Amino acid sequence: MPSLETSFCGLRLPTPFVNGSGTLDALVSGTLGVSAFVTKTVTLNPREGNPPPRIAETPAGMVNSIGLANPGLDRFLEDDLPRLAELGVPIVASVGGWSPGEYATAVARIGAHPAVVAIELNVSCPNVESGCISIGTDPRETRALVERCRRETDVPVLAKLSPSVTEIEAIATAAAEGGADGLVLINTLRGIAIDRATLRPLLGGGGGGLSGPAVKPVALHAVFHAYAATGLPIVGMGGVAGGSDASEFLAAGATLVGIGTALFRDPAVVARAALELAEELERRGASGPEDLVAAAHPPTSTSSRA
Ligand SMILES: Cc1cc2nc3c(=O)[nH]c(=O)nc-3n(C[C@H](O)[C@H](O)[C@H](O)COP(=O)(O)O)c2cc1C
Repeated sequence: MPSLETSFCGLRLPTPFVNGSGTLDALVSGTLGVSAFVTKTVTLNPREGNPPPRIAETPAGMVNSIGLANPGLDRFLEDDLPRLAELGVPIVASVGGWSPGEYATAVARIGAHPAVVAIELNVSCPNVESGCISIGTDPRETRALVERCRRETDVPVLAKLSPSVTEIEAIATAAAEGGADGLVLINTLRGIAIDRATLRPLLGGGGGGLSGPAVKPVALHAVFHAYAATGLPIVGMGGVAGGSDASEFLAAGATLVGIGTALFRDPAVVARAALELAEELERRGASGPEDLVAAAHPPTSTSSRA
């Protein structure tokens, strides 16, 4: 069976599979087979998040309105990170905020921890009123934020982008110009669920973010065009539930593949997806996942809009 070993931003990982931020509590469930653990987004100050209910099922996924509930930077550094460091996998820390200064403080302090191998800047959370996504929908703000955070740490800085923008290429290019070492695509799409009994919004936060199989074509589109525009290493995610989904993301231009919503249905999904990917590589006579990366792009491809 071919090896699934993969290089990403100077890291050597046993497989291309990671979790999507906020979808796996590794301190409760263990790492469930991911090759690197991505933390829930942490913000400078603690946040209780949105009122319940926070999750609604949809025919092909879920809408969530967690609202970046997290213990805040100090407690994350004192309590969570030392325990996460003992899990035995590299840690990618996801950081959110309401101003470049807030992000920069978190990046400097978290990036100094030896277990943290990369930092993901969440500029794409749709479940909070401002901050995050209002930065990630504006190319100038995205470039300036990445530039500022890049100066604060020696570890790779990744920008996690929203698909809810007019031109993903413009935001991806801005992140690249700001010095991003890689991109993470996609965060959830803006969505809303209506309670059929009351005909009122079902989620406590009003609107939410859609994830799961329903978003896969949108995610593949974002990965494809962000790769064509920047050539940066990409963590692709959105609806991945098995090995064939993963090969589609690799072909679109991703190097790593994130799994989020599928973990709620099947905690064994990462191990199964890895096995399925290895089988598919063998069938194709490929020597590793890297053989598939950007296979969907013609050799001279720049950006060709679907
Ligand atoms: C319950 C839930 C919580 C999430 N929390 C975060 C978060 O804190 N930070 C973040 O960047 N993305 C968050 N996401 C987005 C996921 O990391 C991922 O980008 C998205 O769900 C698409 O992947 P999927 O379809 O495999 O779930 C969350 C998603 C879900 C479903």
